Amino acid sequence: MPKLIYEGKSKKVYDLGGEELLLEFKDEVTAFDGKYKDIVPNKGRLSAMLSAKLFEILEEAGIRTHYICFVENRFLKVRKCNAIPLEVIVRNYAYGSFLKRMPLVNLLKKFSKPIIEFHYKSDELHDPLLLEEDIVEAGLLTDEEVKKIKEIALKVNDVLSDFWAKNGLKLIDFKIEVGKDPKTNELLVIDDLSGDSMRVLTPEGKHLDKETYRRTRDVNLLIEGYRRLAEIAGSPTRICK
Ligand SMILES: Nc1ncnc2c1ncn2[C@@H]1O[C@H](COP(=O)(O)OP(=O)(O)O)[C@@H](O)[C@H]1O
Ligand SMILES: [Mg+2]
Repeated sequence: MPKLIYEGKSKKVYDLGGEELLLEFKDEVTAFDGKYKDIVPNKGRLSAMLSAKLFEILEEAGIRTHYICFVENRFLKVRKCNAIPLEVIVRNYAYGSFLKRMPLVNLLKKFSKPIIEFHYKSDELHDPLLLEEDIVEAGLLTDEEVKKIKEIALKVNDVLSDFWAKNGLKLIDFKIEVGKDPKTNELLVIDDLSGDSMRVLTPEGKHLDKETYRRTRDVNLLIEGYRRLAEIAGSPTRICK
């Protein structure tokens, strides 16, 4: 087994040597910065498969990502990047922490155009919202890079929104992480694209994402949604040899 270099809330990261990492998706769910935690059999496999498939869809649309291939039955082989400690959120409809900071807007109001937010990745500080200026002043990114990441985030939004819409589902919001390829300095979409990182609603207003768990802490409800997302998306085709 390759060397474990990091264990996060939802994944384990192994160093494959050279320029590659292996991400293992865990059978665990957490909410509210790790305050709640449960074992969920099969979640790792379903999330890894969905992530792999969605990374393939992004790549087909010309968006550069860290994804190399899917490894049975819960792993992604990816390019090792210098991760930027930010969460980039794109919102199409008002939900979650947006409503806490902007109470004048009603739940699920469709925005006239997508809203992009940057948050500093820190469980202790509860991922605080940042201004673009904060990011530049802290030396995390240049102005140009902030601009480029916003373009990437909007393109990811178009591709994922269209994909779910074709299947009758509504993409409320999502978060991505971005890293830099250590060789080329190119900005790549990294981490995962799963029910943990996006809100997806059925026409009846049912959540197929982690929101079910945040609200009810019911792991059966959670896995039912994740199974539907994975079934709708279909299996990844780039399987590691
Ligand atoms: N291609 C990559 N290169 C380097 N780091 C990555 C890459 N993809 C994901 N990561 C990092 O691996 C970790 C994945 O573990 P996760 O369980 O999501 O952690 P967390 O609890 O910090 O969210 C995250 O810290 C993420 O930034
Ligand atoms: Mg994470």
